[in-house]
Amino acid sequence: MKYPARVKIIDVGPRDGLQNEKQPVPAAIKIELVQRLQDAGLKEIEVTSYVSPKWVPQMADNAEVMAGIARRAGVLYSVLTPNLKGFEAALAGKPDEIVVFGAASEAFSQRNINCSIAESIERFAPVVQAALQAGIAVRGAMSCTVGCPYEGEIAPEKVGYLAGLMKSIGVQRVDVADTIGVGTPVKVQKALEATLAHFDLDRVSGHFHDTYGQALSNTLAALDLGVWNFQSSVAGLGGCPYAKGATGNVATEDVVYLLQGMGIETGIDLDKLIDAGQFISEHLGRPTQSRVAKALLTKRAG
Ligand code: HMG
Ligand code: MG
Repeated sequence: MKYPARVKIIDVGPRDGLQNEKQPVPAAIKIELVQRLQDAGLKEIEVTSYVSPKWVPQMADNAEVMAGIARRAGVLYSVLTPNLKGFEAALAGKPDEIVVFGAASEAFSQRNINCSIAESIERFAPVVQAALQAGIAVRGAMSCTVGCPYEGEIAPEKVGYLAGLMKSIGVQRVDVADTIGVGTPVKVQKALEATLAHFDLDRVSGHFHDTYGQALSNTLAALDLGVWNFQSSVAGLGGCPYAKGATGNVATEDVVYLLQGMGIETGIDLDKLIDAGQFISEHLGRPTQSRVAKALLTKRAG
């Protein structure tokens, strides 16, 4: 088996991770989390989202967070923008990349962004155009690519359909997301393959939530296809507010440990990453969800 020599991780903890937190997390904590992630060697960080504060109150401080981060050269900062209103608001924060987010499931599209898949693409098209004109990169997140909390199993054809639509409006790269973490390796590979029919290998990333404990296996299955871009959350933070019961993304620490063990380069300092995870876990007042962090912290204490 030939795995990629190098993997790029987007830490989505500040956005996907924190969006689901009930207690308000101060902007200063989010800013320090971003700082600690870049100190640990992360080259891509999903910082916040420009969505309705009524829908996701935790992200209401988006402008403050974007204005407060100390940017480092060579690090890409991305933000979610579901529509032109969000995109226009995001511009002041000078994101390097914006993310439009759709779903392979009609029901999830309705619950998450209050419109059908077709309507979502109509809304995204002018956002994508405006971003590209402004020299901002565009990523498309595709939710529920293996399973949906409302529709159950999702056929790969639906993923291919969405990927094709994303491509047709100018989205440059896409995330294949297992929003509720129900995927298993072969199903995840099918969703990835359906996407790879529309996007090059370098432009497809894996975004696996770990609800059923399958995310590392699914990561390995994606690596097996040559996929080398992944999203994960430090300390395994998170979940989507519109996917009840779904837990966080796979922990970045766990993915980094897996990759290091396989001799795959990430450019990430695992010790510093664990410190970043401890910083946010202590703030939230609960233990990290990362198995690797737990193990290495126990070892440190000993
Ligand atoms: P809507 O209610 O259909 O939109 O929401 P609307 O155009 O009818 O506007 C209604 C109100 O929202 C108006 O305010 C607008 O101004 C305001 P009002 O007049 O009632 O005071 N509004 C906005 N405010 C701020 N920013 C905006 C914005 N747009 C409208 N951009 C909308 C549509 C998409 C905005 C809404 O449904 C929403 O915010 N949904 C939240 C979606 C979300 O953040 N979900 C979590 C992120 S996705 C995710 O986690 C999945 C991912 O990780 C991949 C995976 O794991 O699957 C990416
Ligand atoms: Mg997610």
